[in-house]
Amino acid sequence: MSTPAIRLKDVSIRFPIRKGVLRRVVGEVRAVDSISFDINEGETVGLVGESGSGKSTTGRGLLGLSHLSGGTVECFGQDLAALKRDRGALPRISQLVFQDPYASLNPRMTIGETLGEVLHVHRLVPPAEIGARVAKLLDDVGLRRETAERHPHALSGGQRQRVAIARALAIEPKFIVLDEVVSALDVSIQGQIVNLLQDLQRQRNLTYLFITHDLSIVRHVSHSIVVLYGGQIMEMGPRDSLFAQPLHPYTSALLSAVPVPDPRIERARARLEVRSEPPDPSAPLPGCRFQRSCAFAISRCQIERPVLRPIGSHDSRHVAACHRMDEPLVREALSRASHGALS
Ligand SMILES: Nc1ncnc2c1ncn2[C@@H]1O[C@H](COP(=O)(O)OP(=O)(O)OP(=O)(O)O)[C@@H](O)[C@H]1O
Ligand code: SF4
Ligand SMILES: [Mg+2]
Repeated sequence: MSTPAIRLKDVSIRFPIRKGVLRRVVGEVRAVDSISFDINEGETVGLVGESGSGKSTTGRGLLGLSHLSGGTVECFGQDLAALKRDRGALPRISQLVFQDPYASLNPRMTIGETLGEVLHVHRLVPPAEIGARVAKLLDDVGLRRETAERHPHALSGGQRQRVAIARALAIEPKFIVLDEVVSALDVSIQGQIVNLLQDLQRQRNLTYLFITHDLSIVRHVSHSIVVLYGGQIMEMGPRDSLFAQPLHPYTSALLSAVPVPDPRIERARARLEVRSEPPDPSAPLPGCRFQRSCAFAISRCQIERPVLRPIGSHDSRHVAACHRMDEPLVREALSRASHGALS
């Protein structure tokens, strides 16, 4: 089997909690807690989970922007730590695009100047060729060449997101972390940006980590899906298998919250709710991280942390961490809750 483009192994990311005038460390936030997954070259992994589950921290960790407290990341066969030591090596491989491009675009610079600056700083083309390369980048993301003369405030949200994508592409990366890139856009514009990203992926064999809390988008764009809760992976697997038969109560709860257009199916569906607030990442409980929110929790769930594993004759790449996922009654309840969602 070929080496994956990106490989995370037991990655943990913790942040110190500081208090008082001396800013003494009084605890730590376990934002990401020992997670492992791969992203194959030219493919998209969709990273889903509710707010605070550790999605952005994972993305930043992959780009060397958050310090890893434990574990390793391999980028195209090279260790992330070694890539970080070689200044400039990491940005040439990987780039970040996030939800609010307005915040990252200098309001006083034209779009042409912004894109030109990236090309100049990274010495990607000779100065005389920068104008032509900027025009090509604008073509690549479906913007008119005149956009180079405009300032960010004169653009729509969708156009600004295209500029942010062009800026990431300027460096010709192989891997891009897309953090909630369409969440703030109207549905029709979301579709256009998603199509653009998919076209670029096919043309350039790009590898994506697509972070979102929107399951319908993640289904559309991803080859496989990783479901995070409280900084841990609850379930992951190939997209079709995971949507057809979610194994974890949390994934089923996420799916059961997606409205189904057919009113007959919608009425017949059992709702599976996430019962409480997300877990406190500074005081993780022993056992299953989902226990306080789970409709199926039993005493074992408070003591023993479930490990990721497949069930029965299922696709072995599709795994979940739940003590009760093999029980027929639990399986049936999960399947009733997610029935019809996104089908
Ligand atoms: N720099 C930081 N210092 C301290 N805690 C942090 C820091 N960055 C993130 N956290 C904490 O880590 C946890 C995970 O945050 P993260 O931003 O990764 O979540 P997320 O899944 O991206 O959420 P959202 O959907 O709201 O963007 C949260 O509890 C957050 O408060
Ligand atoms: S291990 Fe227990 S608490 Fe965790 S998801 Fe499964 S049934 Fe629910
Ligand atoms: Mg986030």
